[in-house]
Formats: sequence, structure tokens, C-alpha cells
Amino acid sequence: MKEKIKTLTSEIQSEKIENIADLEVFRIKYLGTKGAIKSLFSDLKNVANEEKKEIGQMMNELRLTAENTYNAFKNNLSEDKSAAEKIDFSRPGEDFTIGSHHPISLVRSEIIEIFNRIGFNVSEGPEIEDDWHNFSALNFPPEHPARDMQDTFFIEKGENEMALRTHTSSVQVRVMENDKPPIRTISPGRVYRNEAISARAHCFFHQVEGLYIDKNVSFADLKQTLLYFAQEMFGEKAQIRLRPSYFPFTEPSAEVDVSCSICNAKGCNVCKYTGWLEILGCGMVDPSVLDASGIDSKVYSGFAFGMGVERITQLKYKVNDLRMYSENDIRFLKQFTSVL
Ligand code: PHE
Repeated sequence: MKEKIKTLTSEIQSEKIENIADLEVFRIKYLGTKGAIKSLFSDLKNVANEEKKEIGQMMNELRLTAENTYNAFKNNLSEDKSAAEKIDFSRPGEDFTIGSHHPISLVRSEIIEIFNRIGFNVSEGPEIEDDWHNFSALNFPPEHPARDMQDTFFIEKGENEMALRTHTSSVQVRVMENDKPPIRTISPGRVYRNEAISARAHCFFHQVEGLYIDKNVSFADLKQTLLYFAQEMFGEKAQIRLRPSYFPFTEPSAEVDVSCSICNAKGCNVCKYTGWLEILGCGMVDPSVLDASGIDSKVYSGFAFGMGVERITQLKYKVNDLRMYSENDIRFLKQFTSVL
């Protein structure tokens, strides 16, 4: 009898229960009305009187072991079940963040779209440029101050002189060298100038160059194209004004102001109470630039313009300090949601 109880005890302790079905088999086998323990108890009457107390105690312990084992497995299994089946609808949602576009990217895309609509494609050129594309082909005389170390970041001096491009006008030259008119293209890109960083100036910024070459392109075409751009960008009430200016690669040349959208041209501290804000430089491509790039200036004419993307972004989003665009402060960047 004692042997029987011991083997049953160790049998119970080595049982493996992995699921509800196993648990039920266990219950029937040991704790059921026809189970091993019940039948053991009914055998108790055959035990000699002097042993009854001891064996009875052992049997009680056996039953306890079986019950505890059963309950322990039962709890474990029902815990698993609740994890799988129970969904806590009161739990707060898990936050996940999607990135946002940089304001410069947003405005650059918008500029590209506006010009795409009137047939301009996009072209690009290298940020590390040679003297020819950045200066010489664009009619900069050898002693022109823009070539000076103070403005230009030179990478290699001497025969293979290379520099970080100071403007996207270098892409004009590359496009004219490679394509035949009619040419209608814009060239967005980063440019570099050796300037002290302040709220109003930075050593790198972004430009979008525009170039239109065909037969009979006139200054009136340039003006109308720029007015179209200003009204698409700043709203249909926007006006432009052209002031005579000078660039070595355009003749005649102009600087273009747009009516201040912040004060509706009434005058504010952003437009310095003039009602106007400068946004770009432009002009008719100088015939010598056409010829230097392999386009016959007797047959073709064209216009070019170059605008500062930061400038337009400042006006559009009313951000005054240029430095914010490259500080990567997430609190600043998060505020610009895509309108694309
Ligand atoms: N490249 C000039 C600048 O950076 C802008 C410009 C482009 C002017 C094209 C005229 C024509 O200031």
C-alpha cells in the first residue's frame, strides 16, 4: 500500500500538462470519481487497524499533491488563454510618428510643380564645379570679385581649379552644352558662398535656376513667366516689379521684387515698410554666353532667372532667421506639414 502511494506521488509529480485536454485527462485519471486516488481510498478498509492512521495521512497528502498540481496547471493555462483572448480596449493607443518634409523641400517641390505646369523640365549639375561652368562660360572676367576667395570655397587651386558652385547658373551652361533648343528647364540645387553665418546669410543655401532658350524669346516672355510664378506661389493678388540690375551673363538684367504678402504691400518690418521683397535675379541670356555654350546667338535668344529657395520659404512660412533651416531642431521641423 505504501509503495503504491509513493509511486502514484512520483507519477503525479512527473506528469506533463500542456493544454486543457491534458488537464482534463489528469483530473479524470487521479481525481475523478473512478480515479486512482478514489479507488485507493476505498482500499483503506482493507488496511490493518494499526497502520490505518499512517496510511490515511499519506493518502491525504497524495490527494493534496494531486489537487495542487491540478490547480497550478489550471492557473497557468488560463493565464495564457486570457493573454491571447482578452483585448484591453482602455489601453492608450501606441504613438508612432511619421516624418515631415523639410520646409525647404516643400517649397522646392512647389516651385518645380509650378514650372512643370508650363512645360519646364528639371535638370541638375554637380555641386563641385570647375571654373568654366561656374564663371568663365558665364562671362565673368578673370578679375571679377565674385571669383575672389572671400566668396568662393575653392577645393583645388591652380590648373585643375575646382570650387563649390556659388550659384546654379553653372547648370545653365551644362544644359546648353548638352541640349539643343528649344530648352525649358529649371535646376534646383544647393550653392555655397564663403559668408559669415547670421540670421540673414549662410555659407550654403538653395537656388532654383530657370532657363528658356528658343527663337524669338523676349523680355516680355520673361516678365509674364515670373508674374505667373509669383501668383501661383503667393496668390493671385501678388504683383511683381523689376528693377534694372547687372549680372555678367544676362543683358539686360533685372532684380525682381514681389509684393509683400505679409502686410499686403502696406508696409511692415519684413519688407522694411516698402511693400516689396526681393526674390530673384534674371535677364536675357547674354549672346556671348549662348555662343560659349554652343548655341548660335544669331538664331536663338533666351531668358534666365535664379531664385533663392530660402528667401521664398521665409516669405511663405514667415520664418525670419535663416539659421533655423539647418539647425535640425525637431520642434521647428515638425511644424511643416506636407501640402503636396
Ligand atoms: N546666379 C545669380 C545669383 O546667384 C542669379 C541669376 C540667375 C541672375 C540667372 C540672372 C540670371 O545671384
